[in-house]
Amino acid sequence: MNAPLVHSLEARYYTDPEIFAQEMSGLLARTWQLAGHVSQVRETGDYFAFEIAGESLFCIRGRDGEIRAFYNVCQHRAHQLVQGTGNTRVVVCPYHAWTYELTGQLRAGPNIKSVPGFDRDKICLTEVRCEDFNGFIFVNLDPDTVPMDEWFPGVRDEIRAYVPNIDALAPLEWVEIRENCNWKVSVENYSECYHCPINHQTFAEGVVKPETYDIQPDAGGGYVLRHTTECQALDQMSYPIDMSVPHAGDYQSWFLWPMVSFQCYPGNVLNTYHWRAHDVDHCTVWRGWYTEGGVESEVVRALAVQDRETTVEEDIHLVESVYRGLKSKGYKPGPLVLDPKCGVNSEHSIERLQQWMREAVDG
Ligand code: FES
Ligand SMILES: [Fe+2]
Repeated sequence: MNAPLVHSLEARYYTDPEIFAQEMSGLLARTWQLAGHVSQVRETGDYFAFEIAGESLFCIRGRDGEIRAFYNVCQHRAHQLVQGTGNTRVVVCPYHAWTYELTGQLRAGPNIKSVPGFDRDKICLTEVRCEDFNGFIFVNLDPDTVPMDEWFPGVRDEIRAYVPNIDALAPLEWVEIRENCNWKVSVENYSECYHCPINHQTFAEGVVKPETYDIQPDAGGGYVLRHTTECQALDQMSYPIDMSVPHAGDYQSWFLWPMVSFQCYPGNVLNTYHWRAHDVDHCTVWRGWYTEGGVESEVVRALAVQDRETTVEEDIHLVESVYRGLKSKGYKPGPLVLDPKCGVNSEHSIERLQQWMREAVDG
């Protein structure tokens, strides 16, 4: 007897604003999200503000060298503390000038000493869980969450093996791409290559061998989808590759649920995707490219431009069309193509992603 067909997720998971609200307060506030890169906070007092799950937050480097993340809200009467990026000796609230140490501890405030029983030591900014993952700063709004190495077993070291100079890297560019679709449509599109041979000519002819592309939902465990493939003839790549470096001839990507992916191109070239959900119908994808110290590189810049003009551009049209379709009364969720042998023409990764998506909403 054949097992029943597995159908794609019902359209309401992508289009219903109530489900989106549930994800914002639940899933996106309880998972590890990419906030930035350590190169943005090299010096004591360097900070940058960012938003996760509808919350304004900021990262700042302390005098002890620690990078901490805080909610961007004053503990007096809730004014926002910092904007954008900068460097500061102490964090000063623009409303009544309460000042905080870089550890978040309240240090001073006009006339607070006049208040009988005012205990300065009891007041501290609300800290957020924060991890340095190979130089990438991740935060998780759930104070009880487990460390990234438990969510994504082995991935930290696997990436280091593919990108041996990762500690020296800094972003060369982070290109922001707006997409008119629910974030899950974009993440699913990233997570299967069943559409690659007919939609991504450059990627499928210039980088990977689509017939060998595979996404393994189960390899290594955890909330990770590992993409592997053989590459096209390396001597025909558009840039020179030093084959003496381990994994120089390989391609791999690690998608970390729910919205970050590290990719390594032949030649040990790191690049990343990360997403932010804005509302039920809009998300942003950041495409990141890196070099040592973030210095200009013709090779990496050319790769980034080519990728943006081909794969990224091609995907925008795909995901926006899918999203219009999910809002159509004429759509009934179709069966996923689950080839028991897996491979590029199978949607095993979509089955796994949609299982996580359902669990996030339905428990
Ligand atoms: S709200 Fe920040 S000092 Fe008053
Ligand atoms: Fe694609």
